[in-house]
Amino acid sequence: MKALIAGIGSYVPEKVLTNFDFEKMVDTSDEWIRTRSGIKERHVTTEDQATSDLSLIAAQRALKSAGVKSRDVGAIILATATPDMLFPSTACLVQARIGAPHVIAFDISAGCTGFLYGLAVAESFIIHGYDNLLVIGADNLTKITDYTDRTTCVLFGDGAGAAVIKKSDGKNGIISSYFASDGSSWEPLQQPAGGSRVPASHDSVNKRLHFIKMQGNEVFKLAVRAMFEAATKTLKRAKIQASEIDCLIPHQANIRIIEASAKRLHIPMDKVIVNLDRYGNTSAASIPLALDEAVQQGRVRKGSLVLMIAFGAGFTWGGVLFRY
Ligand code: ACO
Repeated sequence: MKALIAGIGSYVPEKVLTNFDFEKMVDTSDEWIRTRSGIKERHVTTEDQATSDLSLIAAQRALKSAGVKSRDVGAIILATATPDMLFPSTACLVQARIGAPHVIAFDISAGCTGFLYGLAVAESFIIHGYDNLLVIGADNLTKITDYTDRTTCVLFGDGAGAAVIKKSDGKNGIISSYFASDGSSWEPLQQPAGGSRVPASHDSVNKRLHFIKMQGNEVFKLAVRAMFEAATKTLKRAKIQASEIDCLIPHQANIRIIEASAKRLHIPMDKVIVNLDRYGNTSAASIPLALDEAVQQGRVRKGSLVLMIAFGAGFTWGGVLFRY
């Protein structure tokens, strides 16, 4: 039995910030942002848009594309680093609002790798008899972005992507996956305050500790290694060569990381889905958002062999190979 991606949907908020907008906010330039990251613009939430709002629309679109009614949803797994609240889970909020029955609903914290971790969890649910699982990757990083820190604020955008996972006895579905983490490498990417280590206080806010802190070049080095390992180990488990895949969907963090990964894997860039120029780094939403666009554009069709690879805070990384 296989876990099949039977439907996909996504949503980004309407408001757009371009690189030129950032030129007016911090000491930066469109040229620096484009050449160092590949990003031109990103969609950002307004004050009243929370992660569950983005997730709900993406999930509704995924259900529609799979032809599944919300009353038939078997579980909701939502990957995010920016939940509406620390508790309850954002998945529970989506469960109520989407009108799903009283099914399992919980969040996953695996940074930008979260959506792929969610697929792995969904696959194990399928093996245990569940069906019609909603896997959502959603993030609202701009709510924890320091707009006075030019080294991070230009990189992030908001969005959500969702997939409906069904059981399949056919050829299509998830073929192999590989996941890893290295908790000793947590420091280069963190939101220091707001949890139990540094609870929210006037002092934590004054020190801006509730915003993302990132040592970009450290993350960059870890990312290039992690993406290559995720791809090669996932392919090896399926005994498939990189040259056989139709499409590579990498986490959309930086065009230089994407190009370096494709080059090391000998995968030509015309097989690689890139949309970070329009969305920036949307964290857990990045892969389902790119997959949804690739499907809409006909770059991923029924039967396409697709490899998705990601890395993120934790440090976490992983890959999923599937036939659409
Ligand atoms: N505009 C202009 N100059 C800038 C900006 C900016 N927005 N940001 C940094 N600089 C400057 C730095 O201050 C530095 O100046 P200095 O040499 O005088 O000290 C110079 O540019 C080079 O800085 P680096 O950090 O070395 O630049 P780098 O080439 O590494 O690019 C970047 C920075 C884009 C952040 C890159 O390191 C990167 O993409 N890293 C990976 C980030 C990532 O993938 N994060 C994903 C996880 S996100 C998540 O999970 C929530």
